[in-house]
Amino acid sequence: MRIIKGTTYEDMSRKAADVLAAQVLLKPNSVLGLATGSTPIGLYKSLIERYNNGELDFSAVRTVNLDEYRGLPADNDQSYNYFMHHNLFDHINIKPENTHLPNGLETDAEKECARYDAVIAAQGGVDVQLLGIGHNGHIGFNEPADHFPTGTHLVDLQQSTIEANKRFFASIDDVPRQAYTMGIRTIMSAKCILLVASGKDKAEIVKKSFFGPVTPQVPASILQLHPNVILAGDADALSLI
Ligand code: GLP
Repeated sequence: MRIIKGTTYEDMSRKAADVLAAQVLLKPNSVLGLATGSTPIGLYKSLIERYNNGELDFSAVRTVNLDEYRGLPADNDQSYNYFMHHNLFDHINIKPENTHLPNGLETDAEKECARYDAVIAAQGGVDVQLLGIGHNGHIGFNEPADHFPTGTHLVDLQQSTIEANKRFFASIDDVPRQAYTMGIRTIMSAKCILLVASGKDKAEIVKKSFFGPVTPQVPASILQLHPNVILAGDADALSLI
């Protein structure tokens, strides 16, 4: 594992963006696995700046996102589809047809999971998978469990995840209870994994995930077994390691 330490959130975001920028420069048709949550927003801003400066070209880049709430249409401002457009896609020259997310409106879970796994496979493998981390160690929406889930699946969100995400919704009752997420096998199949973490409230779970036992009760702990992981954190998130 390599650790990139940023002094502040902005510094960490810029340094983490360097990794994705280098990937796109070296391989213009890269497949990027993308993530939502508040942590990657600074990284996306930094990528947009580089695009605006003429440093980056996304015209051949393809993306697959980690997850999507079940039941939210793409134009709902809390859907991850909306998030990606608002925070990245609408500001760079990526082709909409090259961006992929689970379809939160598909009610047939088996069908949607099979479709999304096929979409990911058709890209030929993820070059860099960006991840945030939940307070309980979830990556994507792979919640603590008795086993590591493999492919795309439907999850019941844990109460702590619903609580953590309620800040984005009008009320806790509006937070969806289920989501589609890439599985752990898919995440682990990426050639490189870049996990971004920010803030004191993430310090404990960062320590547990990267220096504690590997267990499905802490989904991110599986990353210890990946040969090419980069942990990018600000000073607060890395304060316990
Ligand atoms: C959500 C997303 C995760 C993300 C997590 C942490 O649950 N599904 O992919 O890592 O939130 O979000 P934040 O970065 O806002 O703490």
